[in-house]
Amino acid sequence: MADESHPHHDGTYVADFDSKAATWDDPAKIARSREVADAIVAATRPGPATTLLEYGAGTGLVTEALGSRIGPAVLVDTSAGMRDAMAAKVADGRLVDVRIVDLDLERPDAVLPDERFDVIITVLTLHHVTELDRVLGRFRDLLAPEGHLCIVDLDAEDGSFHGDGFTGHHGFERDALAERVRAAGFGAVEVSDCGQLVRDDGEYPMFLALAADPRG
Ligand SMILES: C[S@@+](CC[C@H](N)C(=O)[O-])C[C@H]1O[C@@H](n2cnc3c(N)ncnc32)[C@H](O)[C@@H]1O
Repeated sequence: MADESHPHHDGTYVADFDSKAATWDDPAKIARSREVADAIVAATRPGPATTLLEYGAGTGLVTEALGSRIGPAVLVDTSAGMRDAMAAKVADGRLVDVRIVDLDLERPDAVLPDERFDVIITVLTLHHVTELDRVLGRFRDLLAPEGHLCIVDLDAEDGSFHGDGFTGHHGFERDALAERVRAAGFGAVEVSDCGQLVRDDGEYPMFLALAADPRG
């Protein structure tokens, strides 16, 4: 099966994104990333000068799918394996006009980039983030005036997605997440359906939470 779940063969969760990076891209993830990219374009109406920060970019599939519909991008991931996979895509031209950065916004001592971004996106990453309010606050700090934050993640699930031992979030209740985003200093938050993550054991619905800069 396409291993999206990260459970070990015994059902125990192991994140290990480094070793998954080389085989991460598969037809299901490529198709899903295209759908997510289309939803982000519809929600934010970017142009060729729109700057992008993708947080937890993995192999860069969503930014790759955004392609020339958006401008320069900073792609952040804490996994060296994922960053290597993105670097390979830069080398062969699949990712254009991007900078790859190792940055963990959960860490109190994280050094934030100087620039501000018109669009910040994070796809299937926040359910791995323990220090969620800190990360949301930093997204707020990194957002340019009139910018948008797009969070795509799983709706609340019963824990079967990652299996035993997973210490992250079992998806998110939409209203509760929207409240946390607002509390982090964003303006209006709109949450809408954003397709399904299809796996052998079932379908996991996803949402897009679109948060506006309160100054916008
Ligand atoms: C489930 S993958 C999703 C990757 C990609 N967004 C996609 O949709 O294919 C989650 C990614 O978040 C990264 N990640 C996990 N915790 C992180 C953190 N605290 N800061 C930055 N990246 C993180 C992982 O290394 C991994 O690449």
